[in-house]
Amino acid sequence: MATLQKTEEMTAPVKLVVIGLGWIGRKHAELIDAHSQCTLVGVGDVDAQHASFAAQINAPFYSEVEELLESEAPDGAIIATPNGCHASVAELCARQKVHVLIEKPLANTLSEARRVVDVAETSGIRVVVGHHRRHSPFIQTARSIVRDGELGSLVGASMLWALMKPMDYFELPWRRQRPGGGPTLINLIHELDSLRFICGEIRQVYAQASSASRNFEVEDSLSLSLLFENGALGSILASDTAPSPWSYEATTGENPHYFHAAENCYHFFGTRGALSLPAMEVWKYAPGVPGGWQHPLERVTRKVIPQDPLESQLKHFCQVVRNEQRSLVDAGDGMRSLAVALAVLESAESQRPVEVSH
Ligand SMILES: NC(=O)c1ccc[n+]([C@@H]2O[C@H](COP(=O)([O-])OP(=O)(O)OC[C@H]3O[C@@H](n4cnc5c(N)ncnc54)[C@H](O)[C@@H]3O)[C@@H](O)[C@H]2O)c1
Repeated sequence: MATLQKTEEMTAPVKLVVIGLGWIGRKHAELIDAHSQCTLVGVGDVDAQHASFAAQINAPFYSEVEELLESEAPDGAIIATPNGCHASVAELCARQKVHVLIEKPLANTLSEARRVVDVAETSGIRVVVGHHRRHSPFIQTARSIVRDGELGSLVGASMLWALMKPMDYFELPWRRQRPGGGPTLINLIHELDSLRFICGEIRQVYAQASSASRNFEVEDSLSLSLLFENGALGSILASDTAPSPWSYEATTGENPHYFHAAENCYHFFGTRGALSLPAMEVWKYAPGVPGGWQHPLERVTRKVIPQDPLESQLKHFCQVVRNEQRSLVDAGDGMRSLAVALAVLESAESQRPVEVSH
């Protein structure tokens, strides 16, 4: 009987709520709704106009987060509010012992991020930070290739992220204001987190930023130079005002919301070879061929079956809630990616290289 009860408990769908029903919160709610490992027991947003969306997906709606947590007693919550209230909403969840998936960036500042790290430690709740690209088969395969030494010692990485955000994207004021708005904390943090995951910790950044195209308070374009702990170098050109086929979104095709182009957005370089992503082509000398620029390189393509990383992240969160897996991006890890992004902003402001604080 005890065994039967345990099996039923382990296989019962994880009860989840979504807090914040904007662009990404709605996507999370729809994914939960479609997934058998979890069930959406309620949704919350301070803005009552989102009640109509809740009605559409048949979920009880609450405009008070405490009431949502008390009434629905979920196992886990997805926090998809603007960055500035991630920490305070996480604290409310911790009070009710509710595990959390917190959208990236973990917070706007390191002191807010530290609050999440502390509250997770003292309450025992488990935290997954929404760096969903870590669940991408492209990113995971690149990490294995680099970390297994297939390219030799890592020399560097080069990334392009250039696309055009439509003007209506900026109707929400927080997206064009500091702190929190701008492509560094909204988008580039994905590249920075992926770089940490694939290549190792970033020690120093030097950034130049421009807002010449839109004249917003926040930057629209950046050029970055990075130094990794292992001595490798990195460079990124990022812009949300330059239409191009060279962004993670356009090239991987993981999100059907974006235009798709069969191009590469990232390149990794080692002492024995190079890798393009998402083509996943490894360029190396054939066995026995001595190194040297006069010798041809061979191209070997690594087969990667694309999967929706947001959906994989949701499955992972359910397993973390059930204590079947350790969080792939815990609060401390999310704070380190935030530290790199904040170092980028500080460097752009001061026009100096900045050491990343860990
Ligand atoms: N992982 C990704 O690829 C991805 C994509 C988009 C956004 N995000 C992140 O998700 C978060 C939300 O972004 P968005 O673009 O969906 O924002 P949004 O502004 O579209 O939506 C945020 C929602 O939160 C609600 N809200 C604000 N304060 C609240 C509170 N205290 N309690 C409950 N609800 C509250 C707002 O009313 C709004 O409906 C941000 O942290 C953003 O960086 C991540």
